Amino acid sequence: MPTLLAPSRQPTSQSIAGSPVVAIVGATGAVGVELLRCLEQRGFPVRALKLLASARSAGKIVPFRGETVTVETLTDDSFAGVDIALFSAGSAISKRHAAAAVQAGAIVVDNSSAFRMDPDVPLVVPEVNAASLACHRGIIANPNCVAAIATVALAPLHRAQAIRRVSAATYQAASGGGAAMMEELRASTEAYLRGEDYAPRALPHPYAFNLFSHNAEVDPDSGYNGEELKVVAETRRILDIADLPIGITCIRVPVLRAHAMALTVTFDEPMSVDAARRLLASAPGLRVVDDRAANHFPMPSDVSGQDDVLVGRIRTDIGDPSGRSLALFVAGDQLLKGAALNAVQIAELLLKR
Ligand SMILES: NC(=O)c1ccc[n+]([C@@H]2O[C@H](COP(=O)([O-])OP(=O)(O)OC[C@H]3O[C@@H](n4cnc5c(N)ncnc54)[C@H](OP(=O)(O)O)[C@@H]3O)[C@@H](O)[C@H]2O)c1
Repeated sequence: MPTLLAPSRQPTSQSIAGSPVVAIVGATGAVGVELLRCLEQRGFPVRALKLLASARSAGKIVPFRGETVTVETLTDDSFAGVDIALFSAGSAISKRHAAAAVQAGAIVVDNSSAFRMDPDVPLVVPEVNAASLACHRGIIANPNCVAAIATVALAPLHRAQAIRRVSAATYQAASGGGAAMMEELRASTEAYLRGEDYAPRALPHPYAFNLFSHNAEVDPDSGYNGEELKVVAETRRILDIADLPIGITCIRVPVLRAHAMALTVTFDEPMSVDAARRLLASAPGLRVVDDRAANHFPMPSDVSGQDDVLVGRIRTDIGDPSGRSLALFVAGDQLLKGAALNAVQIAELLLKR
């Protein structure tokens, strides 16, 4: 596990007073663009904004709140005067630069997987475990997109009746893999429709009109891929159920934006569909879309660009004769709730504390 803090820096529950100077690391990426939009749309009180990316993007002009900001090349000296640094440039960049940002006095909210399982770094979904923010030491981790979306739906049920097992199958969009994968879906679909060949660039398989096992590396021993293992570990950590049995299969589908997932949840005791629907309908960050008559349930096209996670197809699982299992279908815009929105919500909590 990387060293997060210089030895001189004490554990802190540092928060931000007044209007912060905000830096976005990875400002030109799929998540970075959404971070900018969330800050602007939610009226986050940014005093000054620093946009950082690779040297490839240096000099690029980006609009923000009616003004323009010039993208700069990320270096360890980029963080002087920064109060909140929103990192979204991949795990290697976070491991390389987050400590420098903390050392310079910033609080880091990190979108990558670099620190998510570090016991000294809270892994936060504000609707689920905001209290865990209290003991941060300068770095706060934003969860994997599937884990963030799934736990928004699972937490209100678990608060009412202990969850004993989860089985999940995911249908994950191109945007989960960043700007290059979104472009691959667009370009390969256009080529397909023109009847032209397309050699995959960002992915190992043809993407247009196809689906395939998630592109994360597969562990040769267990057969699970890195995405599946992250979702299991992070879901357990966010829900604070250390040994929760979770079975999962993660699939990449030709959807541009927003993930969906089928969840089967087994409880300690039976939970009725009506009770589950009531709990989900009153939970923060969730909207029930469960219209059996119209066959209308959560869809990526409905949730794209939306803050709320959608949940529906709420049924008693007929595969569990004990009656203790419910089946759900969940969709969420993972560029928002699975990344940028969740990070900005964390930053908002830092302002309030
Ligand atoms: N996409 C999602 O739904 C999602 C969800 C949760 C978490 N995340 C995590 O968020 C992070 C970013 O994902 P993304 O989807 O936004 O990826 P992306 O679209 O590929 O964007 C990557 C960003 O990182 C920047 N970058 C790359 N190399 C850099 C370097 N050497 N120095 C400084 N900046 C550099 C890029 O800048 P240039 O444009 O200059 O190359 C770009 O701004 C990843 O850690 C990912 O795992 C993503």
